[in-house]
Amino acid sequence: MKTLAPSAHSKILILDFGSQYTQVIARRIRELQVYSEIASFNISAKQIAALAPNGIILSGGPASVYDKGAPQIDTEIFSLNIPVLGICYGLMLMAHHLGGQVVFTGRREYGPGTLRITNRSELLEGLGHQLDVWNSHGDEVTALPKGFRVAGTTEGCDFAAVEDPQRKLYGLQFHPEVAHTPRGKEILHNFVYHICQCAMDWTMGSFIEEACARIRKQVGDQKVVLGLSGGVDSSVTAALLHKAIGDQLTCIFVNNGLLRAREEEIVQRVFGENFHVRLKYVDASERFLALLKDVTDPETKRKLIGNEFIKVFQHATEELLEEDRGNGEHRLAAASPSSGGHGGYKFLAQGTLYPDVIESVSIEGNPAQVIKSHHNVGGLPEKMHFELVEPVRQLFKDEVRQVGLQLGLPKEIVYRQPFPGPGLAVRILGEVTPERLSILREADTIVQSEMEAADWYYKVWQSFAVLLPVQSVGVMGDQRTYENTIALRIVESRDGMTADWVRIPYELLARISNRICNEVKGVNRVVFDVSSKPPSTIEWE
Ligand code: XMP
Repeated sequence: MKTLAPSAHSKILILDFGSQYTQVIARRIRELQVYSEIASFNISAKQIAALAPNGIILSGGPASVYDKGAPQIDTEIFSLNIPVLGICYGLMLMAHHLGGQVVFTGRREYGPGTLRITNRSELLEGLGHQLDVWNSHGDEVTALPKGFRVAGTTEGCDFAAVEDPQRKLYGLQFHPEVAHTPRGKEILHNFVYHICQCAMDWTMGSFIEEACARIRKQVGDQKVVLGLSGGVDSSVTAALLHKAIGDQLTCIFVNNGLLRAREEEIVQRVFGENFHVRLKYVDASERFLALLKDVTDPETKRKLIGNEFIKVFQHATEELLEEDRGNGEHRLAAASPSSGGHGGYKFLAQGTLYPDVIESVSIEGNPAQVIKSHHNVGGLPEKMHFELVEPVRQLFKDEVRQVGLQLGLPKEIVYRQPFPGPGLAVRILGEVTPERLSILREADTIVQSEMEAADWYYKVWQSFAVLLPVQSVGVMGDQRTYENTIALRIVESRDGMTADWVRIPYELLARISNRICNEVKGVNRVVFDVSSKPPSTIEWE
């Protein structure tokens, strides 16, 4: 495993045993301004020694240490002289391997508990005598390894917090990383600062400086192309690259005709006018709409749009090369395709984030196994032999947002809701036509502006309109109408993998519905989607 962090930083290495909370641990540590990285549980002690972390955290996990094929650990890790904190399954492993006793209870115990601190402990310093904690475990420690002592107990467990301060080995049966353990962050604080002696050196300001240096080193004086979608990740990546290499970066923004109202204006204003990024705007809307004529099947729509995007992007890169040649940039033209990339553009920048690069641990019954996320520019690097520049691949989404703000991107970009690559096409059920696009855009604009005005837009994961292929009878004045239906989808979610519909105030729903029916020609009915994911998805197609 290669570390993503420059060696100068303090760092905590988290070994993942398949807990659904592993990423939460990593984020909590980073919130303490200490760099953290996730490694698979089977990393060797030798590899860890080479990474030289200040501390190691063993995550929880769904297995029992007695399960056949339960994830094991290189026990040499406990002799590296690096502090270790075992959480839940991590504690069980530690106790199991160091000579303690762990019993298999055969049931998983979830829920709140109270930790009573019975012995003074550096890990629990400053937390008083008791605190609320969140349990989720199957096995239970019943006897401690030699050298260990108890620091805290809960109602059901005599060994809820244990430690061997000599060897700097610590274990918690509960989860300090989750919100249900309100003072858990203080425990992690004690671990990283007092026990591991980490410096508070992970800040987005220092990240920006280091990322710029890394980008310059990687690309030298070569040119980089980036597919700008207007979403948070590609926007922050563009701003970061622009800071690092200025005009060596060209962004391509493709208008596929499936964008929200004024989207192309916003992106051109922010990047072209404010940032002076070299931006190539490609209006390919007619091509996309012609392609989508008569298409109603959701997967066919997605495939057609994805493939067409690659073609349009490829063509735009060729045009750029021509333009560069026209401007007498022989340096670029001299780079042959065999040197990689497309013509003179050797590098493609992408806004890949840390959750996309963490290898997911595959353990049977692992709730943390992720469904692969969607990619807007899927297939580009493979088809065009680009070398990738991925300057935010170390970062979590909240960190990317901070970087964006520090680079001066406006809030409307940094905090915008996710928008699917195939755009409004997957929110128009049935055929995508210019007329239906126009109806949906108008309805969508109303949803967005009312959500913003009521201060709800930034509180939810997504809020949007969907145009259904359903017409129904209505009445307008004394005229009978037979018009379209708009469905409202407003969901909250942590990462898009699961979601629930938001209980927004009825008055807000009423305002949105009234405005859509009154102002959008062709709509006489609005319905509210009250399905969660699963079993429904967030988008309707
Ligand atoms: P679903 O509909 O699968 O969506 O519940 C989960 C999240 O992913 C977004 N989404 C996409 N994002 N390209 C993207 O970049 C896509 O093709 C795409 N499809 C869905 C969706 O908006 C939600 O946030």
